[in-house]
Amino acid sequence: MCGIVGFTGRENALPVLIKGLYSLEYRGYDSAGVAAFTKEGLRVVKTQGRIANLEEKIKEEGGLCCTCGIGHTRWATHGEPSDRNSHPHLGGKDGMGKVAVVHNGIIENYQDLRTRLEKHGYAFQSETDTETVAHLIDYLHTGKQEDLAQTVLAAVQRIRGSYALGVVSLDNPDEIVAARRDNPLVIGLGKEENMIASDITAIISRTDRYIILDDNEVAIVRPDGVTVMNEFGETLDKPVQTVTWDMSAAEKGGYEHFMIKEIMEQPKAVGDTVRPRIQNDSILFEECGLTDERLREIENIHIVACGSALHAGMVGKRVIESMCRVRCSAEVASEFRYENPIIGKKDLCIVVSQSGETADTLAAMRLAKQAGAFTVAIVNVVSSTIAREADGVLYTWAGPEIAVATTKAYSAQLAALYMISVRIARVRGHISIGDEKALCAELRRLPRLIEQTLACKEQMQRIATRYANRASVFFLGRGLDYAAALEASLKLKEISYVHSEAYAAGELKHGTISLIEKGTLVVALATQPALFEKTVSNIREVVSRGASVVLVTTDDFTGDESVCRHIVRLPKCLSEFSASLSIIPLQLLAYYVAVERSCDVDKPRNLAKSVTVE
Ligand code: F6R
Repeated sequence: MCGIVGFTGRENALPVLIKGLYSLEYRGYDSAGVAAFTKEGLRVVKTQGRIANLEEKIKEEGGLCCTCGIGHTRWATHGEPSDRNSHPHLGGKDGMGKVAVVHNGIIENYQDLRTRLEKHGYAFQSETDTETVAHLIDYLHTGKQEDLAQTVLAAVQRIRGSYALGVVSLDNPDEIVAARRDNPLVIGLGKEENMIASDITAIISRTDRYIILDDNEVAIVRPDGVTVMNEFGETLDKPVQTVTWDMSAAEKGGYEHFMIKEIMEQPKAVGDTVRPRIQNDSILFEECGLTDERLREIENIHIVACGSALHAGMVGKRVIESMCRVRCSAEVASEFRYENPIIGKKDLCIVVSQSGETADTLAAMRLAKQAGAFTVAIVNVVSSTIAREADGVLYTWAGPEIAVATTKAYSAQLAALYMISVRIARVRGHISIGDEKALCAELRRLPRLIEQTLACKEQMQRIATRYANRASVFFLGRGLDYAAALEASLKLKEISYVHSEAYAAGELKHGTISLIEKGTLVVALATQPALFEKTVSNIREVVSRGASVVLVTTDDFTGDESVCRHIVRLPKCLSEFSASLSIIPLQLLAYYVAVERSCDVDKPRNLAKSVTVE
């Protein structure tokens, strides 16, 4: 969480920093700040609130003219969102800030460092862990001949925890020193200007060439060049990469919010993910090391992820187990990493992550790898840490996802999991060549079916308007519908702040049904023909206690629909892939409820898109 950006060049750095911060705002948005070298010295302007507040404050303070500076957008971990806890933080005694630092991550031993620095006369202005880094650098720098980069190297060796750092010092007014461990950092390479940023969306308006900083590396960034060193101070020859997507993908393109744009982009996201992997009616996976031989030998599959990516994994688990008859679990990464999981050398660990930077997912993957499992990452952000560390990577080609609530990346994750399932089923002889051909045709048809499903947009808007004021919403489903219900419920609560819960339809009566009362909204999902009748009887149970029911079901639903207030019909598709359709109206429901309640749809409170802390 938190976004960091830095620019050093010949032009005014401020507009570049502000633009960069806007594109990183998805990483945290409770406060923002910049530090820059001006004629008067090192100036810091920072404030609680959004980047617009920062712009306002800079204007009030007479502007800021500089050619080198760093900026930060915060998601609070240590200390509430406030002006003084905002970054950048200054390091130095008696308020004489010689060093300014922006940080993304968590310094675990900050309390210990703080106590020691206080003994050396450093007075702390904030409650943050980051301020210890600023003072530590100043302490190690003062009175020594070492350059800033060497000092940062020495400082990070004393730090326990995770960080992406941008550091500037009065001694080197056109230089930024960057360092990382377990948090992303890229270096943008321009012409007579260079940048640092938490991700490439912040540099792409200036350059499409970049270097990825790896763990424990430190970079010296100046207008005329970049030097990267390893933890021993040895200079490295880092590969230069080129951004392959264009800027318009990260813009709203006429939509009111990124979320609705991304919902509407799902046919393309799924098509782009599926199409290149289907050749001659068969699924090709050599790209990620899932060879037929490996797939044949798998003993257990562990799908590990967080949030919506976990919900995609829960769909995947059901599809894989039913198609391939291999034991498959879908596990919460933050639990998996600490519960001493049983992982065999012939196990496959599939981690699912849009950002490819989620701290718990990364740690879980490292654990599985260490235990000898083959790890495959289903990831959207190219060259992200998880993508680089996995044994194999299966990219979802959803393009940049900006709204904090995921939609198109989730849909692309489902498609990737279906493909893995079909391939395993074929290799292990659970389906014939003909079956695989038919399944490939179904996969190719998915984008069109999602497109057709999106036609329920107006219906969902009407339903949302009618029920937007409900205090609580319940989502029910069985099997795949239960997994989809979990995702639908998360979507609604995270962006509209309406309390919602998802239940396995048969489970509600074991306690939770006591919460159902007259007018409670219940959304029931029924896409599995074999379970239609069972779900209908659960619907009756809530209707007879006063609930208003919205039923999401298929065109060929055969149950009694008269008990439901609203029916949302999905085009007919293979029941194994139904979660790809049933989620669409429920993403739209969440979106329109949030709009109706005047919520900040793309940046819901307390959240950040990339969760790089535990
Ligand atoms: C919800 C949402 C989150 C993420 C979760 C994992 O809409 O986006 O629940 O799915 O934080 O993030 P990634 O996929 O980046 O690992």
